[in-house]
Amino acid sequence: MESLADPRAARALLAFWRAAGVDMEEAEAIYAGAPTRTGAPAAPREPLPLNRPVPKAKMKAPVDAPVESARALASAAKTVSELRAAVESFTGCALKATARNTVFADGVEGAPVLIIGEAPGKEEDEQGKPFVGRSGQLLDRMLAAIGLDRKYNVLISNTIYWRPPGNRDPTLGESLACLPFAERLVELSQPKLLILTGKAASQAMLKREDGVTRLRGRKLGYTREGFQAPINAMVMLHPAYLLRRPNEKRLAWGDLLLAQAWLDELGVARVSHP
Ligand code: URA
Repeated sequence: MESLADPRAARALLAFWRAAGVDMEEAEAIYAGAPTRTGAPAAPREPLPLNRPVPKAKMKAPVDAPVESARALASAAKTVSELRAAVESFTGCALKATARNTVFADGVEGAPVLIIGEAPGKEEDEQGKPFVGRSGQLLDRMLAAIGLDRKYNVLISNTIYWRPPGNRDPTLGESLACLPFAERLVELSQPKLLILTGKAASQAMLKREDGVTRLRGRKLGYTREGFQAPINAMVMLHPAYLLRRPNEKRLAWGDLLLAQAWLDELGVARVSHP
């Protein structure tokens, strides 16, 4: 399947959204780091027929520039530390302007387990670390139940590195601009098991439209061009969702048992917590 970090795939997707009647101006402006409209009512737009190519001049700068810059920075990074510095230097995601801190990763570089979530919230933005708020504390407890700990055998990151204002959902443009870094993190980390938590991270990383309910509970593979073999991957319910829907903790326990069994099979060392 085509990568959304691929400018052609991104253009095709944006064209599809436009054709479906979605007003993409705001998303593209944010994506390009350009000033956005200030509440002026949207002029009615004529939907494009699906098969009409989107004019290159209109699409090229906003769509390509940040993604291309992210891809160049990400691929130049040869270690996770260099990737962190690359994310910190990246200016193609407008969320950076409103965030206090860049939130890249926390845990052990090169750990056998890599967890990728969605975007930082308030506490993460304040501390510059992923998953340190309520959902992060729940995640830590869930991981501890199967002998995983960010101090010893886990690296935790997100698909977005700056807090979206008011914790709104990241736009497509923001997601596309950050994705090359998350993809490079997997490539550099070569984890024994990649755990994607929540819908946004799962869909962005696996390039699938299925929801979490469909993706969770299975052994999946994460692959990209140039990979010799897929990386073991699985999808887990997001801890923030579990805080809202405590009844679903039963399913989350199933996810943890799957991770535990798979890690045993892979011979990944765990820690025991009292
Ligand atoms: N939710 C996420 O997906 N990531 C964080 O870092 C915090 C909350």
